[in-house]
Amino acid sequence: MTWVRLCSLRELEDGKPKSFNIRGRDIVALRVGSMVYVCDRWCTHEQGDMGMGWVEGTVITCPDHGSQFDLAKGGKNVLGPDGEPAGSVADLHVFDVKVEGAEVNVDI
Ligand code: FES
Repeated sequence: MTWVRLCSLRELEDGKPKSFNIRGRDIVALRVGSMVYVCDRWCTHEQGDMGMGWVEGTVITCPDHGSQFDLAKGGKNVLGPDGEPAGSVADLHVFDVKVEGAEVNVDI
């Protein structure tokens, strides 16, 4: 893995996922207050687009079947598709992030 500049902090709107392709990998960045999280773009259930997901706190919900992942807990699956229990699909991969000044860097 290598640290790569992702974007400037002001490009990220609080609570609104933004999609990127970095080094050939589709990812989503999310700013929650002073924190920035970066995860894989494609849901671990059936590849729903997490860049189109909705957000409550640090939990992102897949727009396709409603699986939820907590980005502050390493992308842990906290609700399965169509209301199935937590852990019924794989966790979403979360990348290490460093915010340096106004720049967001990701280890990818
Ligand atoms: S594709 Fe994400 S919950 Fe089904």
